[in-house]
Amino acid sequence: MAGAATMLDEYRTFFATALRNPRMVGAATPTSSAVAATVGQVVPTTGEPVVLELGPGTGSLSNGIHDRLPTGARHIGIELGADMVEHLREHKPWMEVVHGDAGDLLSILDQRGIGKVDAVVSSIPWSLLDDDVQDHILKQVTEAMAPHAAFTALTYLPADRTAGGRRFRVRLAETFDEVLTHTTWKNFPPILHYLCRRPLV
Ligand SMILES: C[S@@+](CC[C@H](N)C(=O)[O-])C[C@H]1O[C@@H](n2cnc3c(N)ncnc32)[C@H](O)[C@@H]1O
Repeated sequence: MAGAATMLDEYRTFFATALRNPRMVGAATPTSSAVAATVGQVVPTTGEPVVLELGPGTGSLSNGIHDRLPTGARHIGIELGADMVEHLREHKPWMEVVHGDAGDLLSILDQRGIGKVDAVVSSIPWSLLDDDVQDHILKQVTEAMAPHAAFTALTYLPADRTAGGRRFRVRLAETFDEVLTHTTWKNFPPILHYLCRRPLV
């Protein structure tokens, strides 16, 4: 459990970044621990898995991932916001934090000697991304996934009803053999989880 000072710093960093760049962050506050508990379930608890987190922000999902990871696992986080990166490096020293763009994930993994990953957890604001950017990042995700890997994407439930959200839903159905959804109501606004396996392309 984070201390009060750490939590305050987390909210301050998140909120300040969101104010400066609302489209990049796509949220006003970090997601709840209830969301983190659900997301964590895609993380393998055995072997030496590699987990890729896209858009960790201030790390509200990262602890749930880290807590399940066995010794020898790797947890790579790719985050665009400089202040978020600084916060993560200070408070989550066990995570390999890359200040970069999810759209460069293949080269970022390659530079770290990683070919395939066992799980991808993403909370970048998918519904706000342009069509070609959604497409570009998803192609890289599917290329990076090991055959048994899971990909999970989070969107706010209301965002799923927007044009960008609907486009993302259709694209997931076209890209994966299995797409399951789950809603976490203990978050404001509620969060829709997509859980996807077996890329078709
Ligand atoms: C909705 S916030 C989620 C943050 C955190 N995972 C949470 O659940 O509270 C989205 C995060 O994705 C980051 N982000 C947006 N676009 C990105 C991109 N193309 N590559 C990496 N990070 C990105 C934002 O800076 C922000 O930290």
